[in-house]
Amino acid sequence: MDRIVVRGNGPLNGQIPIAGAKNACLTLMPATLLSEEPLTLTNAPRLSDIATMSALLRSLGTEITSMQDGKVLAMSSHGLDNHKADYDIVRKMRASILVLGPMLAREGHAIVSLPGGCAIGARPVDLHLKAMEALGAEMDLRDGYVHATARGGLKGGKIDFPFVSVGATENALLAASLAKGTTVITNAAREPEIVDLVHCLRRMGAQIEGEGTSTITIQGVDRLGGATHPVVVDRIELGTYMLAPAICGGEVELLGGRIDLIGAFCEKLDAAGISVRESDNGLTVARKNGRTKAVDVTTEPFPGFPTDLQAQMMALLCTADGTSVLEEKIFENRFMHAPELQRMGAHIDVHGGTATVTGVETLKGAPVMATDLRASVSLILAGLAAEGETVVNRVYHLDRGYEHVEDKLSAVGAKIERVHGE
Ligand code: UD1
Repeated sequence: MDRIVVRGNGPLNGQIPIAGAKNACLTLMPATLLSEEPLTLTNAPRLSDIATMSALLRSLGTEITSMQDGKVLAMSSHGLDNHKADYDIVRKMRASILVLGPMLAREGHAIVSLPGGCAIGARPVDLHLKAMEALGAEMDLRDGYVHATARGGLKGGKIDFPFVSVGATENALLAASLAKGTTVITNAAREPEIVDLVHCLRRMGAQIEGEGTSTITIQGVDRLGGATHPVVVDRIELGTYMLAPAICGGEVELLGGRIDLIGAFCEKLDAAGISVRESDNGLTVARKNGRTKAVDVTTEPFPGFPTDLQAQMMALLCTADGTSVLEEKIFENRFMHAPELQRMGAHIDVHGGTATVTGVETLKGAPVMATDLRASVSLILAGLAAEGETVVNRVYHLDRGYEHVEDKLSAVGAKIERVHGE
């Protein structure tokens, strides 16, 4: 298995290009199942999760041509010859559940394995299933699979989510686009990835209003056509690399970065004493003089502070001046990076969904284990701030969500390399 070796670093300077969003691409790709005509995505990220979604779609009958080194995905689902999303693929990635809505809407039935994914909490899919029921589908759970049927097709309905779910909102949007009549989703997620999905569906001919707000109204159409759509910038990759100069010092421009994607995070950086400004080609981050200040962070659905940046923010706060309290409100088991950061000398106390971090002057390099996608990259960031060498093991998690992480960081002066294992 590959490992990443990081050495404590001086200031970083230069530019880092930000890729298209993994989480947007993973919801845009299943939209191909809604149409017989081609859907082409540009600005796609080159990640193993995208390869997993490609394998899943191919298993259902979608033809996919990857061009420009994977940055362009041309998909065609003119004939679907299989309605079963198999456990062997679905278990690798929770986002696989997103084929349920579109398959059901187009074909009237679907069999989808219950997903696996990162071990960051229970993460059930009950809201996805309830949304399909609200659109008239009958759901039956057996042998680890969801068997969904909509005799006579899906019908528009009222979907009122008890709490915000990004994935369930996406599945509901995909399904309702081809349902008969009007669907109103209340307590919908407002994430930029939802807005991007709606923009793509609209290009395909869907009639949707209210994206980016908590109430989305979908007027179902009989058929959807083809489209070409650019994947929105990855706000989580953006925030992750913004933390590199925040931790090491220096000044780095994140190409393609946008404040509107990441406002709550930028406010916390500002409070910590990190400068963020809009520049010609994105966002420029610089560490002001002196030690980073402690700040309290609570994760929330968009536009709040993203749970997917909590681990990386913790890496910054490990060396801040003072005590920071991080509250995780989205996933119940998302502090698995804390014991690994402690191995590097961090002072962290975890009680339930709250982590209290008391900053130390310096971290010390150590061998550490990546436990999930965002935790892996937080250990790399911590390694950049540590004295000596940090070896991050189990980096396959990292490859699910960050393309060429070692190239992007070494281009701005970080001492980082990948060591290939057998
Ligand atoms: C998406 C992102 C993930 C991010 C998360 C929250 C993708 C591929 N993944 O995940 O990176 O961390 O949003 O921003 O886009 N829940 C239920 N029942 C359900 C669905 C969710 O109880 O049917 C719970 C989850 O366990 C969690 C909360 O709802 O506690 C929010 O999860 P959700 O927004 O659905 O996350 P995902 O869409 O899975």
